[in-house]
Amino acid sequence: MTHLVHVGTRDDPHAQARKARQLPILLHSMSIFREIFEILFDSRKLSIVIEVGVESGKVSGMYAELGAVAVHCIDPLPTDELRANLAQNDALHLVEGWSPGVLAELPVADLYVLDGDHNYATVQDELAWIMANAPDAVIAMHDVLWPWHRRDLYYEPTTVPAERRHPASHDGPTVWHDELTPGGFVGNGAFTAACQGGGERNGVLTAVEDALATAGGDWRFEVVPAVFGMGVLLRESSPGAAEMLERLRPYTESRLLATMENNRIALYTKVLQMQFEAVAHGDDADRLAEAISGQRHEIDRLQAELREADGRRQNELDALRRENERLRTLLSRRFRQRLAGSLTELGRTAKARLQERAPQR
Ligand SMILES: C[S@@+](CC[C@H](N)C(=O)[O-])C[C@H]1O[C@@H](n2cnc3c(N)ncnc32)[C@H](O)[C@@H]1O
Repeated sequence: MTHLVHVGTRDDPHAQARKARQLPILLHSMSIFREIFEILFDSRKLSIVIEVGVESGKVSGMYAELGAVAVHCIDPLPTDELRANLAQNDALHLVEGWSPGVLAELPVADLYVLDGDHNYATVQDELAWIMANAPDAVIAMHDVLWPWHRRDLYYEPTTVPAERRHPASHDGPTVWHDELTPGGFVGNGAFTAACQGGGERNGVLTAVEDALATAGGDWRFEVVPAVFGMGVLLRESSPGAAEMLERLRPYTESRLLATMENNRIALYTKVLQMQFEAVAHGDDADRLAEAISGQRHEIDRLQAELREADGRRQNELDALRRENERLRTLLSRRFRQRLAGSLTELGRTAKARLQERAPQR
């Protein structure tokens, strides 16, 4: 029994899980397709390789390991990491420039690996140049399936003439609905996506189909339906083509791979959506916490104001009570005096009347 996955043993049952968690959540590098490249290199001598779109340069060495004597690595925006990775191997040559323009400045290659700007115009021009100038070359292409098969991606839109570009957005595609969304497969500033998918002159696969229709002849295109789709384009009459196509068949005809790829992009875009929602909920929670803290300050301020008003009211009440007391005292003293005065007056009057009525002697 052979195991391709690291199944581990009864004493080490977690080996496969360990291996799984070492992989990035998003697989996207051409290095994933190593066994496909092994078939290409086994079937034909591929001495000169031109790699379009290099990114970190980690995969460039793989072509040299498989037999290339020179790998020309085209990238317009080489990072320090890319320079360092290429510097480790004399067979790797950095070409700082934009494809397709720079292709004509390089030797004709046996293998072209196209993984640069994934839009119709760029891929159309790359294929036109290669198919005309290197008709026996093998062309390996990435991203011939969702999401860039029928939708342009632009790393640098200004390199594509405006009339060959589609309106683009920083939002990204998802498999969960047809419109772009900020919670989709976004470029985070690295690239934009055509707002609409489909139609004419849109996407990598559409460019391949149109190139095949224009070229005619015995060009063949096969797709390995995994990790965004790897396409292999070659002439059936070119050296080693029959063996390549035959050995590629288990991959290109695999319904299992196609199903797993569909499941992968569904799961991945679900993860993206959940991440986006988690960040949005986090932002909501921050805003809520800010509002609560603002309201707490307002409550504290109002309570202080209330205490102050209460104090003032109590003082006023005390003052009123004192005044009331003073007035009452004053009133009762005057009343008693007036009553006493009135009684004295009354007594005097009564006495005078009695004396008047008394008989005179
Ligand atoms: C998807 S990454 C390449 C990944 C790499 N092939 C791998 O398998 O690891 C795309 C790269 O293409 C580069 N690029 C964009 N437009 C390009 C162009 N017109 N010509 C060449 N490279 C381009 C970007 O700078 C980026 O590094």
